Amino acid sequence: MKIFSDTANLNDIESNLSRGIVSGITTNPSILSKEPKTDFVKHIKKIAALCIKYNSIVPLSVEVFTGNAKKMVKQAIELVDKINYENINIKVPIGWNELEVINYLVKQGIKINATCLFNEAQCVLAANAGATYVSLFMGRMKDIGVEPLGVIKKTRTLIDWSGKDTEIIIGSIRHERDIIDSFIAGAHIVTADPKFFPKMATHPQTDKSVEGFLKDFEQWLK
Ligand code: E4P
Repeated sequence: MKIFSDTANLNDIESNLSRGIVSGITTNPSILSKEPKTDFVKHIKKIAALCIKYNSIVPLSVEVFTGNAKKMVKQAIELVDKINYENINIKVPIGWNELEVINYLVKQGIKINATCLFNEAQCVLAANAGATYVSLFMGRMKDIGVEPLGVIKKTRTLIDWSGKDTEIIIGSIRHERDIIDSFIAGAHIVTADPKFFPKMATHPQTDKSVEGFLKDFEQWLK
């Protein structure tokens, strides 16, 4: 199961890469804004350097930071050039004008993560435009009363029928159970805040079992 780390926090990214538990990293302008103010490109390059340090050249999504389609193209090309990381993906929000941006950038050889998607139709169009990833926003779908698992399931069916190798990323995760639920519904990838990962790894009964094993073994050694 491909889990991506949805953060720009260098410590969290290193913590995840050192455990080998993530297959990618996603950022967005709001995620960057949670970090101490710094040079945007330099910070992303630090993330890329961590991926190289851990020999984990995983997909790294960086989002354009303009609503203007022409500026998106310029920013995307500049980001790819300046960051110079072989597995960089550019995040472009979906929209009518943005589909032309996606298709143009794909034709320039740039891998696109189409983002801010809320339904199957947006995913189909983004995939048709050549997006490598289509990112559905689970938590924000729930916020507007949309049941996300059904959308994930239908989107997976449509993508499979299309024969395209576009992968569905589920973001906007609000609880660790959303991660497993998304995979069961058909997500290829789930991207989540690293704060959920320790919760996924631990269970009170695990701790209790290990405690009992150690206690029994200590008794046996006496
Ligand atoms: C994916 O990378 C999305 O940008 C991210 O998960 C959005 O999360 P939010 O809805 O909590 O802002």
